[in-house]
Amino acid sequence: MTIFTNVEDLRQQSKRILPRMLFDFVDGGSYDEATLRRNESDFDSLHLRQRVMVDTSGKRLGRTVLGHAYDLPVGISPIGMGGFYYPDGEVVGLAAAENWNVPFTLSTLSICSLEQLRESTERPFWFQLYVMKDRAFTESLIQRAEQAGCSALVLTVDLPISGQRHRDIKNGLSVPLRFSGTHMLDVMRRHRWWRRQLRAKSKSFGNLTDMASAKDSKLMGLAQWCASQYDPSLSWADVSWVRRLWKGKLIVKGVLNSDDARHAIDSGCDAVIVSNHGGRQLDGARSTISSLRSIATAVNRQVPVLLDGGIRSGQDIIRALALGADFCMMGRPYVYALAVDGPKGLDTLFTILRNELEVCMALMGIRHLSEVDASCLDNPDHFSR
Ligand SMILES: Cc1cc2nc3c(=O)[nH]c(=O)nc-3n(C[C@H](O)[C@H](O)[C@H](O)COP(=O)(O)O)c2cc1C
Repeated sequence: MTIFTNVEDLRQQSKRILPRMLFDFVDGGSYDEATLRRNESDFDSLHLRQRVMVDTSGKRLGRTVLGHAYDLPVGISPIGMGGFYYPDGEVVGLAAAENWNVPFTLSTLSICSLEQLRESTERPFWFQLYVMKDRAFTESLIQRAEQAGCSALVLTVDLPISGQRHRDIKNGLSVPLRFSGTHMLDVMRRHRWWRRQLRAKSKSFGNLTDMASAKDSKLMGLAQWCASQYDPSLSWADVSWVRRLWKGKLIVKGVLNSDDARHAIDSGCDAVIVSNHGGRQLDGARSTISSLRSIATAVNRQVPVLLDGGIRSGQDIIRALALGADFCMMGRPYVYALAVDGPKGLDTLFTILRNELEVCMALMGIRHLSEVDASCLDNPDHFSR
């Protein structure tokens, strides 16, 4: 039996299970992957402050955001093609999020549809939206999210065009998808993965299959259609347009500086996510953790500030909360865990994070997450510029 003690263990195991093309799609970033690396390494440069002889026996790990009390301060970011890492992966991810009482975000580019997720649960989940060139289609997605009872719309604003990912090009995973002979051999060797994928109910982009402009429901046709739908003409006016259409909570995902955070608030959002798309878009941009404090200061508690990018442990979550995040989200750790063993893998992931949080809080003398602030770090000004 494999023993997983941290997120890196799950990552290594997912590398053994997933076809290389898929693992690289998840694990990689854009261009030279400098931002991807910084997202993780910048966390390490923040020193946690050890405190001793504090009674932390009644520790509480819960956190409330956007009116909902969650049991852990970390949720699941939107991930395209979740159903490729594990059969019906989005349904499995949502079930795990509900078990652990943390938020789950369904991607526009998911394999399971909004309606499938709705059927699988009574509880509301979040839906991530890309504003596509076809505004009528975008509007219909917003309506479907409302009908599916989604409690928040996560509007991703950092993808007006797709950042180039060298690994995907080298692996032939550019749009449209192509599987060459070498890749077929690699896929054949990943028995666990392809055997379990045979039982997947959904095999294509679930939210897009019935669109008039994307009649071909085969994955290749849809992938091509999606690439043609990213819209470089997007502006804050489009965020205001979405705001008018969506009555629930609106979260703007993908701000990396205080000016954009202010624009997001002026456009009517209820929360912002400090994000650089996990280092998959503008390579050379700052890490999210290094951008956080100035954004939180500028936002000045007007709306909650969430962060994703590089969170790999309970210690990282404490660091982000210390620099002003109200809540954390994670992308890749969720995918690694899902790929390793679906529900069991996700249970392992949340157990690891909860244990790390508990131990970290005990060794830092923190009884409740509301006590976490800049004083929990020895060098809170490290990223002051
Ligand atoms: C495989 C993969 C697919 C993703 N798909 C989406 C997506 O469909 N929509 C979106 O807004 N962000 C997407 N993201 C970005 C994540 O939502 C999140 O911002 C990022 O993964 C956070 O960084 P982390 O992986 O270091 O936690 C994706 C990220 C990965 C790794």
